[in-house]
Amino acid sequence: MTHTHVRRGERVLPRFPEGFLWGTATAAYQIEGAVKEDGRGASIWDAFCAEPGRIRNGDTGDVACDHYHRWPEDVALMAGLGVDAYRFSVAWPRIQPEGRGPANAAGLDFYDRLVDALAERQITPALTLYHWDLPQALQDGGGWLNRDTAHRFAEYAGLVADRLGDRVGIWITLNEPFVHMSEGYAIGTHAPGETLLLDALPVAHHLLLGHGLAVPVLRERTSGQIAITNNYSPVWTATGAPADRRAADAFDALQNRLFTDPVLLGRLPDLAAFGVPAEPDYIRDGDLAVISAPLDRLGVNYYSPTRIAAPGGSGDAAPGASVLSEVEGHIQAAGLPFADTPIEGYPVTAFGWPVVPGGLHELLTGLRGTYGEALPPILITENGCSARDEPGTPDRDRIAYLDGHIRALHRAIEDGVDVRGYFIWSLIDNFEWAEGNDQRFGLVHVDFATQKRTPKASYHWLRDQLAARR
Ligand code: FCB
Repeated sequence: MTHTHVRRGERVLPRFPEGFLWGTATAAYQIEGAVKEDGRGASIWDAFCAEPGRIRNGDTGDVACDHYHRWPEDVALMAGLGVDAYRFSVAWPRIQPEGRGPANAAGLDFYDRLVDALAERQITPALTLYHWDLPQALQDGGGWLNRDTAHRFAEYAGLVADRLGDRVGIWITLNEPFVHMSEGYAIGTHAPGETLLLDALPVAHHLLLGHGLAVPVLRERTSGQIAITNNYSPVWTATGAPADRRAADAFDALQNRLFTDPVLLGRLPDLAAFGVPAEPDYIRDGDLAVISAPLDRLGVNYYSPTRIAAPGGSGDAAPGASVLSEVEGHIQAAGLPFADTPIEGYPVTAFGWPVVPGGLHELLTGLRGTYGEALPPILITENGCSARDEPGTPDRDRIAYLDGHIRALHRAIEDGVDVRGYFIWSLIDNFEWAEGNDQRFGLVHVDFATQKRTPKASYHWLRDQLAARR
């Protein structure tokens, strides 16, 4: 190995196991734009963005990064970076504009071309089937509150795999169902904007059922690996007080276990703290067997830990800068058995999320401890940070963030956790949901007025680090 490519002053990253995949990640609605082209139907995000006041600055994904037209440039950027893999998502409304029925060939053609272009550059496609952009027609029928949506999802999975099953190496059914359920259906900060609080829980089950129904459909049509992606947050207790510990356990069940225990263990976590019975009526006989179909990989997204106290509880509990701070009011309104409290003493990202690289090690060793032999090999399917980037100003904060997290990941592997890949969120600045175009996560800067792409210092840093492996 030669280190000559890495700039003076940069530390060379540790050596990862042979075959470890380095990648970048994006999602359809966040980058594609072209929302009315080639027969694409409306998605819940089109409808949500059109409602005044939903998205910061009134931004929308109508154009986003115009990736639908500029994808060759984006693939070239990835090739220049030297990544092994690319995680992207398919927009369901491009494939089934009304959420059911035969495939719209023009929609499939777009992804077909993308997959071929990736293969030409020896970049493994990692395809997410559902990154939150449900066809609006299905939402009109209740969306994920309706059990039938799970069956529609399996049908859609089959259409995509019929076309791409021979060339896509990694299949991810769902992205972060916890966020989709909680922000989309419980508190309404994401599409479809429902504020059902705990009545949103059937959404969790129907998302999981859709995942489980899709797995055998994919198995029949591809020899690729099959995974689900969840977001995990190590849960810290505000104090050692028993009430805070109980609150932390309740939050952990919701955030970290609700979408993982059913998949890996075939059972629900204990949700008694939320008044959920052991056998809720929306779960039918046989569902958990469907949901726990064996997987090849577990997709893990990590951004930051959470610090939890009893509601109104341990004295220092106050709403603060963490992933959940903006929703603390909703949590209190719902009478949930926990309160989110600030994490002090760490740098924060532009989003205000604390930068805690060690949390990635904690979470990975924790997953192995919790699930043991039931845990498939892991792919880190998202990790990264937003920063107030300007072209020409080096994004040192992002480099420090990535360096710290990659080292924490390496320690977890050395400690015996089987992790096979790491995907940075994101390749390019993009439409960050309710935050519009304000939160820049890219290795590449995008000027949204001109669509000009400018690689940031972190892009060059990663390129040099990857080159140094060869
Ligand atoms: C994750 C989402 C992804 C992106 C990052 C910042 O929750 O999966 O689309 O918004 O956060």
